[in-house]
Amino acid sequence: MEEEKYRFLEHRLEGLNIREKDSSARKTMDEVFDEKTLLTLYKLMTRGVIEKLEFPISTGKEGNVFLGLDRDGGQLAVKIYRTSNATYRSLARYIEDDPRFRKVKRNRRALIKEWARKEFQNLHRYRNTSLPVPEPVAVLDNVLVMTYVSLDESPAPQLRSIGLKADILQAVFDTVADFIVRGYHEAKLVHGDLSEFNILYSDSGPVVIDVGQAVISSYAMAPIYLKRDIENIRKYFLRNGADISNPALDELVSQLKTEHLLL
Ligand SMILES: Nc1ncnc2c1ncn2[C@@H]1O[C@H](COP(=O)(O)OP(=O)(O)O)[C@@H](O)[C@H]1O
Ligand SMILES: [Mg+2]
Repeated sequence: MEEEKYRFLEHRLEGLNIREKDSSARKTMDEVFDEKTLLTLYKLMTRGVIEKLEFPISTGKEGNVFLGLDRDGGQLAVKIYRTSNATYRSLARYIEDDPRFRKVKRNRRALIKEWARKEFQNLHRYRNTSLPVPEPVAVLDNVLVMTYVSLDESPAPQLRSIGLKADILQAVFDTVADFIVRGYHEAKLVHGDLSEFNILYSDSGPVVIDVGQAVISSYAMAPIYLKRDIENIRKYFLRNGADISNPALDELVSQLKTEHLLL
């Protein structure tokens, strides 16, 4: 990449110490910020989507999420998918049979790019049904920009890592049950990886994240994913003392049973 672009980025990636040698985070950072990804960030910055990247909120297997700032100092969550082989392998199995992605070439970078686009589209679909997910802001190549979910001015914690009072936990269960039911009937999506890890507890209540693998309800595998989502959620809330009966969710389960979609 040209020197000028590097210098531009250097100033805007300050908090990350990505140029710092021998730091323990260095290897991860090198993997995430390969040259093409730096160029993508450069474009997002020159287009005025992101002004600055502050610090990593999360370092995952398939990507990292950073706190970013827009031009007005507003906070953003910037999810950068790693373009490694490992990411490719774990994503390919989901995308392979999704009818929306039939045409995607079996090319690593192209698939990961499609994946980020799919997460962006799924966020839109959920938002259009007023379901609680972050608002999608932009997607370019392997970088997804969305609104930042916070609790008391810090990154919102995952549901699994906070203790909630019984009445609040019960209300959270009902919101999550509604997310599953209306997600299925109205957004026509099944999340596919719904658990206490992918629900953040924010100032405005629970927010569901990590929707890249969500599939459309008519997709052949959807009932299997749906069953797994419901089981995971019920198990978590039951273990934490909530009452897991919810008329709409129970109705969805029996509907799927009568349609022999759920065994
Ligand atoms: N919009 C967001 N606002 C605040 N934190 C977020 C946001 N999106 C993701 N995170 C943080 O990053 C973590 C990983 O994001 P996630 O989308 O679940 O990716 P993955 O599990 O594939 O690494 C989340 O558990 C959460 O802590
Ligand atoms: Mg996750």
